[in-house]
Amino acid sequence: MTRPGEATAPQSALIFLALETSCDETSAALVRRSRNRFEVLSNVVSSQIPLHRPYGGVVPELASRQHLALVQPVVNRALRAARVSIREIDGVAATYGPGLASSLLIGLTMAKALAVSLRKPFVPVNHLEGHLWSPFLNDKAHMPPHIALIVSGGHTLLVRVSARCRARLLGLTLDDAAGEAFDKVAKLLGLGYPGGPVIDRLAREGNPAAISFPRGLLQSDNWDFSFSGLKTAVLYFVKKLQASNSEPRISKKQLADICASFQEAVVDVLVAKTLRAAQAHRLSLITVSGGVACNSRLRAKMRAQASPLQIRFCEPRFCTDHAAMIAAAAFARLHRASKNDLQRDVEPNARLPEN
Ligand code: KG4
Ligand code: ZN
Repeated sequence: MTRPGEATAPQSALIFLALETSCDETSAALVRRSRNRFEVLSNVVSSQIPLHRPYGGVVPELASRQHLALVQPVVNRALRAARVSIREIDGVAATYGPGLASSLLIGLTMAKALAVSLRKPFVPVNHLEGHLWSPFLNDKAHMPPHIALIVSGGHTLLVRVSARCRARLLGLTLDDAAGEAFDKVAKLLGLGYPGGPVIDRLAREGNPAAISFPRGLLQSDNWDFSFSGLKTAVLYFVKKLQASNSEPRISKKQLADICASFQEAVVDVLVAKTLRAAQAHRLSLITVSGGVACNSRLRAKMRAQASPLQIRFCEPRFCTDHAAMIAAAAFARLHRASKNDLQRDVEPNARLPEN
């Protein structure tokens, strides 16, 4: 019999229950890996966006209380939606970091308790590894060599994935994540939270060349990013505009132009640096995941400029945080699972494991 937390030898088909509570989504998923394919049986995401909206960002204390209230109902819904009984699962996984400590603790503790009581392996998963796997959900359970751009509310990084699925961090944001820049600019424009989707929508009516905002680190000879200067440039532009307008309100046309020009500055840097990284590392495949991968301009511009490179965007429903990607990453780590994993603590500042 397998002892709690101990790995079983890989079988032909395995079903994992995964939990993700690193930020403001309480999520549980059932994923089956069979014949080298991932099949998402259910992926329940209970978003806390309405709860945090009045504050213009995630409030950690509110987030963890909400995770605590929701985690069990969300697990039950995931099991029901997958038509899987809890006795049929072969292992439990959860995110240990990076993320908000008090939020991570809820999913991690629940997953450990389930693994112990069911006497099944427990696999702690790095959230960023989940994002790396997310473009491959419902597909082959294998990552070919590629350059991965992970671009979300908390992260912006470029990763090189080798033929043996080894991830190497190439560069990351030195200040704000790209999604954070969308959220902060939306807040200063009074557009609400989260900012990405609303700026994306308003930008469609605007001129992306109307305002020349800075493209941070575009020409630098490394793979790092910087978006805080851009956010400040938007702030000063808006202040100046309000001072020069006959009334402080920004017109609809001005707002659309600011959104389109800001978005273009973010997209230009993401596209140029990602394509350059793929060329420099002689890799023909690029993946893009994380919440900002939903951005329509990023998707269009990356595709238009990528040829002859191949681009694989995460499906929009798998771009933002969810537990199915955590299950996929857990399968890749299963051969290394050990009962010591039950001692794994949350790691709010965990970096992408380079292995
Ligand atoms: O991956 P995610 O759920 O959070 C982190 O793991 O950090 O991504 C959420 C982020 C938010 O900052 C949101 O504004 C951004 O993704 N986002 C977008 C779009 N949809 C979501 N940013 C730009 N354009 C979008 N369409
Ligand atoms: Zn994320």
